[in-house]
Amino acid sequence: YTAEIDANDLGKGTYPYYMIKEIDEQPAVMRKLVQQYQNDEGQLEINEDIISEIKESDRVYIIACGTSYNAGWAGKQLIERIAGIHTEVHLSSEFAYNTPLLTENPFFIFLSQSGETADSRQVLVQVNQAGYPSLTLTNVSGSTLSREAKYTLLLHAGPEIAVASTKAYTAQIAVLAILSECIANSKGFESFIDVAHELSIIANAIETVIDDHEIFDHLSVTHLSSSKNAFYIGRGIDYYVVMEAALKLKEVSYVQAEGWASGELKHGTIALIEDNTPVISIITDEVTGPHTRGNAHEVVSRGAHSMIISMEGLDRKGDAYVLPKVHDLMTPLISVIPTQLIAYYTALHRGNDVDKPRNLAKSVTVE
Ligand code: G6P
Repeated sequence: YTAEIDANDLGKGTYPYYMIKEIDEQPAVMRKLVQQYQNDEGQLEINEDIISEIKESDRVYIIACGTSYNAGWAGKQLIERIAGIHTEVHLSSEFAYNTPLLTENPFFIFLSQSGETADSRQVLVQVNQAGYPSLTLTNVSGSTLSREAKYTLLLHAGPEIAVASTKAYTAQIAVLAILSECIANSKGFESFIDVAHELSIIANAIETVIDDHEIFDHLSVTHLSSSKNAFYIGRGIDYYVVMEAALKLKEVSYVQAEGWASGELKHGTIALIEDNTPVISIITDEVTGPHTRGNAHEVVSRGAHSMIISMEGLDRKGDAYVLPKVHDLMTPLISVIPTQLIAYYTALHRGNDVDKPRNLAKSVTVE
């Protein structure tokens, strides 16, 4: 009798699934990125040609699909606030056929974990034909999008095997933060954020959240695994994260999920709230936090089961979880972690194949 060993299992070590291993690797990825992009003097540094081309452009267009698209929204916030450059985020499959009016000197950033996504490549082909400069952020060196774009920056996240992307999302945001700071430095902006320092705080904060994984396991089995649908709500930077939170939950647990701008809930989606519908709010922003709390209150009065994930300093009694405090612009890197764990545990309790969800592929090379 010979035990059958799936070659893929070897890389999992003691983890039952790649997804949880990859969630767990995120603190190490944050630390590695700082090392990779630091020069001998300990300053963050990115190829000068990339920085000067982005500086010369009048607008950055981020092009991506799926989880990478969601990371793009957090990236837009970073590029606009830190580097002061207008940034738009587009779905590759839409941009290709419904191209918006471009500015005179656009710069294109392609976000793609695999570097092989056909929808994104199609846009890159158009961009190259038009002669516009481009940069691919990818986890796979030598991948198609990396070879065909003018420039590449690597995510250094290590192989991502689980179909549902986790560590590539946080790595993409971290690299965009590093890029934003390098542009700001080169523009001579007075610095208000030390990205390398913030990323090391975030690495520790992610560890804290992962150590609390049992809380999310419990929340998933109690409120999500037998629910037919679920909602995530948030505003501003938290809205970007709830889009990713809902995508992750759909992908692996098959619970129908929506990530919604809290303020929009009352304009339609609230009609779906029934007794015990799970509604998870993310609150990391001081200004919009009270409004989201108000929206959570509205759904409770319609029977929803509300769970609030807030951040230290903005927390209230009764919140389901309080995230460690991190820099205002970097909160997606920490607020996404509970939502990855919730997706994982909900899928696990539903008996799904967490790493290979039905109907999904890791890299989609058809349009
Ligand atoms: C597929 C995967 C998603 C991923 C998307 C974009 O649909 O299932 O997890 O986010 O492609 O992939 P990329 O490799 O371009 O980031």
